[in-house]
Amino acid sequence: MQKLRSLLLEVPKTEIHLHLEALASVDTIWTLMKKHKISYADISSKDDLRKRFEISSLNEFLDLFINVIQDCFRKEEDVDLLIKDAQNYLSRNNIVYAEIFFAPSKFLQNGLEFAELIKRLSAGSGNIERNTGIETRFIIDVSRSFGRDNARANLDLTLKHRNGTIVGIGLGGAEEAGPARDFAPIFEIAAAEGLHVVAHAGEVVGPESIWDALKLLKAERIGHGISAIQDDTLVEHLAERQIPLEICPTSNLLTQKYVKTLNEHPIRALYDRGVNVTVNTDDPTLFGIDLVDEYMRLTNRGFFKPDEIINLVKSNTYATFLPQERKDAIWAAAQKIVASYSAELEIA
Ligand code: ADE
Ligand code: ZN
Repeated sequence: MQKLRSLLLEVPKTEIHLHLEALASVDTIWTLMKKHKISYADISSKDDLRKRFEISSLNEFLDLFINVIQDCFRKEEDVDLLIKDAQNYLSRNNIVYAEIFFAPSKFLQNGLEFAELIKRLSAGSGNIERNTGIETRFIIDVSRSFGRDNARANLDLTLKHRNGTIVGIGLGGAEEAGPARDFAPIFEIAAAEGLHVVAHAGEVVGPESIWDALKLLKAERIGHGISAIQDDTLVEHLAERQIPLEICPTSNLLTQKYVKTLNEHPIRALYDRGVNVTVNTDDPTLFGIDLVDEYMRLTNRGFFKPDEIINLVKSNTYATFLPQERKDAIWAAAQKIVASYSAELEIA
């Protein structure tokens, strides 16, 4: 197992489902609370902050995510701290390319300027690349939690201030509260303007939510998508079209809607039925997960064998929005590392 862990660390990886604000370290949030003299009920130490993220539902998590984590950002320059946290996380996991959600709604509500935020995030992305060679791109997350008009305003700002670091828009937030159909016209404009389109769906709502994301939003990838397992026709559709599912196993265990233990997680069944599944962390620092650990957990009691884990690493790379030749280059570099471990791990 130690050998597999070393391989997983050494192999160049990509990640396609993680939230920038959820990369905030406890130190970052604590620094901002002190800087802006913010206090929250039940949070009077860094330990309290850590404990608040022991959650038991998506709604409980989103309340903290929006009203504590995002709320601490009161000046545009505060996001520079997130860039540092992102660089730490990506380097520690040897992730060479990541598509990272950024949800501007709460920042705008707090009076921050979209143009300045994007300028700082893009400069931060450039700094990460200069410092480490790691490439990052952003997906603007128009949260269902803030409603349709707000999502439209987010899209207008995105189109106005867009630069090469923004590759798409996504639908996140409270899945039960905002049906995809409310957001369809916004996603249609986004796609026509050349943005990639993704959506969280089937995280806490049944397969109908995934169908809506595919048919009404024309989502190119589905965030989570775990309720697909309840609908055979949908599983066949996903497998036939090879629509990537951005699966975040530990996040699903913590939000507790469909799975209580990893063995109950449908990732294995979806994989066996030919669905294009990828492994991601969703909210790494807030949930205390590293991508390498996420893969390792899937090897427990043979849930996935080493060669299947490597196949999942490959699927993630090919599910990115990178040009084909960059995907091929990352995978070629990965294969060299895999080959050097193949005898020990019986990987073909
Ligand atoms: N925003 C941050 N994490 C999220 C999740 N797991 N689901 C929906 N929106 C989110
Ligand atoms: Zn997410």
